[in-house]
Amino acid sequence: MATIEELKPEFFPLVAEWLSNPAINQWLDGDWRGRSINSSLVAVTVRNRRNRLFLVRSDATPCGVVALADIEVADRLAMVWYLMGDAAFTGRGIISDALSQIVAFGFDELALECIYAWVMQNNTRSIRVLVKSGFRQMGCLRRSACFHGKQVDRIYFDSVRHL
Ligand SMILES: CC(C)(COP(=O)(O)OP(=O)(O)OC[C@H]1O[C@@H](n2cnc3c(N)ncnc32)[C@H](O)[C@@H]1OP(=O)(O)O)[C@@H](O)C(=O)NCCC(=O)NCCS
Repeated sequence: MATIEELKPEFFPLVAEWLSNPAINQWLDGDWRGRSINSSLVAVTVRNRRNRLFLVRSDATPCGVVALADIEVADRLAMVWYLMGDAAFTGRGIISDALSQIVAFGFDELALECIYAWVMQNNTRSIRVLVKSGFRQMGCLRRSACFHGKQVDRIYFDSVRHL
């Protein structure tokens, strides 16, 4: 259903547009939240060797992003994050499918042992995506993220490579 491919410069403007959407970036890391993002910032993010960003397509149409961040080669650990950029494609299982693919990439190609994600406690869609993709809830950091001026918990999930 979904395909993923390494994010190329021709798509930086589109991804910057998605990341600038408050309905999307309100759920993301503080570095993205509430900001207007341009292509240069996407380029800097892609150049950082601790990141791997992938464009998600559904039936060949670019519609979202899945990414690994904070890749720690020595510890075989990374964080995963994702977004559905095109609202017309939400709720079809596309990001769940893409998430499973990037997790397989992380385990098989990068030899990671553990991939984790965190979501705000009120991000029920994202929690559903993680659970569907086999992630397990590990715990939370209380009042550790700011959602529209209110402190909410970050819930952490992980997935480990099956031996
Ligand atoms: C989270 C996000 C990526 C989900 O995208 P999506 O295309 O809807 O994802 P999927 O279709 O794969 O799965 C969504 C699941 O949530 C469910 N869902 C939708 N709205 C929901 C709600 N309000 N409460 C609970 N579950 C909900 C859907 O039914 C679906 O589950 P199902 O397949 O069992 O029916 C998208 O909403 C998004 O981009 N959000 C903003 C960015 C974000 O939150 N990123 C995650 C932070 S790391």
